[in-house]
Amino acid sequence: MLSVLVLGIFAFTTAYGETLCTKKREEYRIFDETTPQHVKDFYRANHTYQTVEFVLEKEKEYLPLRHRRMGIWEAFRIFDTLVDESDPDLDLPQRYHLFQTAEALRRDGHPRWLILTGFIHDLGKMLAFFGEPQWAVVGDTFPVGCAYSDRIVFPEYFAGNPNHQILLYQTEYGIYSEGCGFNNVHMSWGHDEYLYHVVKNYLPTEACYIIRYHSFYPAHLHGAYKSLMNDNDKQMLPWLELFRSYDLYSKTEEKLNLDALMPYYEDLVSEFFPSEIDW
Ligand SMILES: [Fe+2]
Ligand SMILES: [Fe+2]
Repeated sequence: MLSVLVLGIFAFTTAYGETLCTKKREEYRIFDETTPQHVKDFYRANHTYQTVEFVLEKEKEYLPLRHRRMGIWEAFRIFDTLVDESDPDLDLPQRYHLFQTAEALRRDGHPRWLILTGFIHDLGKMLAFFGEPQWAVVGDTFPVGCAYSDRIVFPEYFAGNPNHQILLYQTEYGIYSEGCGFNNVHMSWGHDEYLYHVVKNYLPTEACYIIRYHSFYPAHLHGAYKSLMNDNDKQMLPWLELFRSYDLYSKTEEKLNLDALMPYYEDLVSEFFPSEIDW
């Protein structure tokens, strides 16, 4: 009886991986010659145009936040109209990805702040609505102003980046110093950094960290850029690793009943956010 119960719990906790996912884990994030051409084109542009100068210009343009004031739900509706050209793993409208990520976290009994993090983590893609090209909104992120790690997807595309010719930018620490911490590093501009600034006054530190670095796959999946980490980054890294499994492996073709889920998420959003915030 006990073993049935234990097995039952195990089946529940792994049901997410075994019954909802139609893909195996190793079938996600395939970046090689089989990757769709539009994803390769996306990364070629991203790696070519994300320079130190470009990132500084975007930081100046968007920070402090001054584009508009709106609530999370208005952002959510706009977000749903956007397409992510860098994602080889998702064909459903964007809102499903947010609900799937959050529901997977909820199913596994994670705290409300983490479920909310899953629910909003990609809303920074709003940048596309503000006119930014996809290569400045989505895709994996990486530090600019220091050497490119070969653990970034399609590293060969950096050959076309003007920063590739600047010697200082191609040293291990570049314009930074050993152990300076990711918060002192300029990351390629995109939805992570932008949304971090939008939500940082409303969510716990761990949530803000996850949002800011969830696309930094070279660091949290491949262990790159360890020499730029400070103690806080080392402490926070497990959160990125945990979040990654939900962000990535919850991408399925399963269509959730969003109407039935709405009351829970309306309640959750209003627990942490006022009706309008700066974007
Ligand atoms: Fe994202
Ligand atoms: Fe995501």
